[in-house]
Amino acid sequence: MSLTFIFIFCLLVVAMFAPFISLYAVSLIKKKEYQRHIKIQKRLFWVCVIGVVIFEVQLRMAGGSGSLVAQSKYVDTSFFRYILTAHIIGAVLTYLIWAFTIFWSDNKFRKKRTLPGFSSKTHRKLAYISIIGLFYTAITALIVWILTFYL
Ligand code: HEM
Repeated sequence: MSLTFIFIFCLLVVAMFAPFISLYAVSLIKKKEYQRHIKIQKRLFWVCVIGVVIFEVQLRMAGGSGSLVAQSKYVDTSFFRYILTAHIIGAVLTYLIWAFTIFWSDNKFRKKRTLPGFSSKTHRKLAYISIIGLFYTAITALIVWILTFYL
């Protein structure tokens, strides 16, 4: 079992848990535990971002885009290409929206120590889009992983 394989598996596990951890942090709002909500959301984001950066470095070292999935016997099928493209586009969009949610909300909250009115509504909308994106990213990553390493 190679180090790359173990790392990709760990990243997959983190990606699968991420939306549930984020939802747990959302549940803290009802208990008015704002600081814990913020701390968990920020830490989760940075853990995932660092994981993806290490993954990208490994991908480059392994020969660039497509090199890790080359071992899959499905690599030339249109379904595999479709799901891989859908995964990459969805994951990039999710991380962009998620990053914006974190930085924008952090900035607003630092100024007022709360997220009132418009900010609260916007925060909620962006947050739920991010969480849906995290579910989408995890599910499509799992399909790609199964087709590459398992089947
Ligand atoms: C540094 C970043 C963040 C700050 C400062 C922050 C802060 C807050 C605050 C103060 C509230 C209560 C707002 C209100 O009174 O309506 C809130 C609610 C909420 N937050 Fe965050 N948050 C952050 C990141 C996130 C992230 C990344 C997500 C999800 C991806 C998220 C999901 C939510 C949701 C869904 C609610 C509404 C919960 C409800 O109304 O029951 N937050 N956040």
